[in-house]
Amino acid sequence: MLEENTLSIIKPDATRRNLTGKINSRFEENGLRIVAQKRLHLTKEQAEKFYEVHKERPFYGELVDFMVSGPVVVQVLSGQNAVAANRNIMGDTNPANAEEGTIRRDFAESIEANSVHGSDSVENAKKEINFFFSDTEIVG
Ligand code: CMP
Repeated sequence: MLEENTLSIIKPDATRRNLTGKINSRFEENGLRIVAQKRLHLTKEQAEKFYEVHKERPFYGELVDFMVSGPVVVQVLSGQNAVAANRNIMGDTNPANAEEGTIRRDFAESIEANSVHGSDSVENAKKEINFFFSDTEIVG
């Protein structure tokens, strides 16, 4: 088992409904540790750059608009196999397909307003963490 870091974003639909604490409890109850965290209002440029890999997808424009529609909480989660562990805790991208007890099943409003983002690989986790945090802001 590998100790890893992964990037998590609590999205505007969840901050709007004041769910930050409830979502953070899911991470902590499932063995992940929040080792960095800040609340931000993303600029359009930041959201476009962060989701650049999806630039050609039909939902890109709406996704960017949604991500700047309210505050987000960006955070680094650490733990054993944190990338995969967090994906299990979040559940499927589409809440209609997410398993019971997952964040998206319990809190997400739609495939777009799906409450949380989590890195999909260790390599992307490193890039996404560097996008928002400097090394001195991550305290394990
Ligand atoms: P996230 O894990 O943040 O990564 C990309 C996001 O695009 C995804 O979660 C969804 O919220 C959003 N999205 C919107 N529409 C779709 C779609 N049809 N398929 C996949 N992702 C989508």
